[in-house]
Amino acid sequence: MSVLKLTNRIYSVGVINPNLRIFDVIMVTEYGTTYNAYVVKGDSKTALIDAVHETFWDDHLANLYEVVDLATVDYLFCNHTEPDHSGSIKKILEINPNIQIVASAAGIKNIKSIINQEFNGIVAKDNMVFDLGGVTLKTIIAPMLHWPDSIFTWCEEEKVLFSCDFLSAHYCEPRMFDDLVTYPKKYYQAVKEYFDAIFSPFKSFVLDGLNKIKDLDMQLVATSHGPILRSNIQNIMLKYEKWSMQKSYEGKKALILYVTSYGYTRQIADYIQDHLENNYHLDVESYNVIEHDMRMFGEKIEEADILLIGSPTINRDALKPIWDVTGLISPFTNKGKPALVFGSYGWSGEGVPMIVERLKGLRLNVVGEGVKVVFRPNQKEFAEIKQAVDELMKEVSK
Ligand code: FEO
Repeated sequence: MSVLKLTNRIYSVGVINPNLRIFDVIMVTEYGTTYNAYVVKGDSKTALIDAVHETFWDDHLANLYEVVDLATVDYLFCNHTEPDHSGSIKKILEINPNIQIVASAAGIKNIKSIINQEFNGIVAKDNMVFDLGGVTLKTIIAPMLHWPDSIFTWCEEEKVLFSCDFLSAHYCEPRMFDDLVTYPKKYYQAVKEYFDAIFSPFKSFVLDGLNKIKDLDMQLVATSHGPILRSNIQNIMLKYEKWSMQKSYEGKKALILYVTSYGYTRQIADYIQDHLENNYHLDVESYNVIEHDMRMFGEKIEEADILLIGSPTINRDALKPIWDVTGLISPFTNKGKPALVFGSYGWSGEGVPMIVERLKGLRLNVVGEGVKVVFRPNQKEFAEIKQAVDELMKEVSK
């Protein structure tokens, strides 16, 4: 793979392995792979992002020398230390023994065991910024994507995220951008196969990783395998989100029990039901409890994997039918069950925090402080409700 200038300051200097047919002993790689690596040039300092598989060192070194004198490079950001990205670090140190290697604490430990020699290591923390002169690199801790050591590196000025394995694919074509692949169907098949093999055991971490990068203004996602993402960043992130959610929550049941005075708490309940069904594919039952025989709820609470309870506040209290519902919850059989409380109010809104405390007393895993809405929920409040439910669902996937 030849050198490619990605932005004013960033170059792709990775290598291709079109003949790879098995990765990590178990993963079939019908379309080969690439080991991507990058150079970031600041006014005063230069960084490498990731090394490559040691077998391909000669090709990688030739690419590096087209862009930079390796002996003068200041940093190597090692986003993940599986040997397909760290195998050639020993070779880098032969030429540049003073290079500072930035990696997570777990990554530094792994590198020690991979190269068995001393080196200058810098332990990356979340949001640690390295100024290269006119351009910065920020480390983002992203564990289990795909090992405990994983981090992302973000270049704010060039709008490039270096994601390592995350959002990658074992797919090899000479043209390195997602919108230039000759066989897009095969590429998307490779993206799915990569997700299934590498990330499906770590679905809650995938959702955490997506959450960490969702607000970045990414123009490029510089992956470590397969095409660099340019036109399909959101598309592939959405696929990751969908695959993680579907698999995590399959077969889970949610129970929503609420009362409503003027219909506003029911609007919240309906919104939550819709979000859980359409985005998490849960089996959801929702009841305005005063319309049913209270005795049926004990069994339904036992059967539910997730419990959501809603009450308006009237006279500084939650309403009596909801207090009665809480009397049906056994702290022994429901201990640790993820729960969320919600409700509309007009003056002071004590009902939600009171029920939160009651459920905590019953040893449920109550997420956050509950969701309170002044009268009728508006767009901003619906967004807050969604965020609270998403936090709840992270607990479910653990
Ligand atoms: Fe591409 Fe987890 O190594």
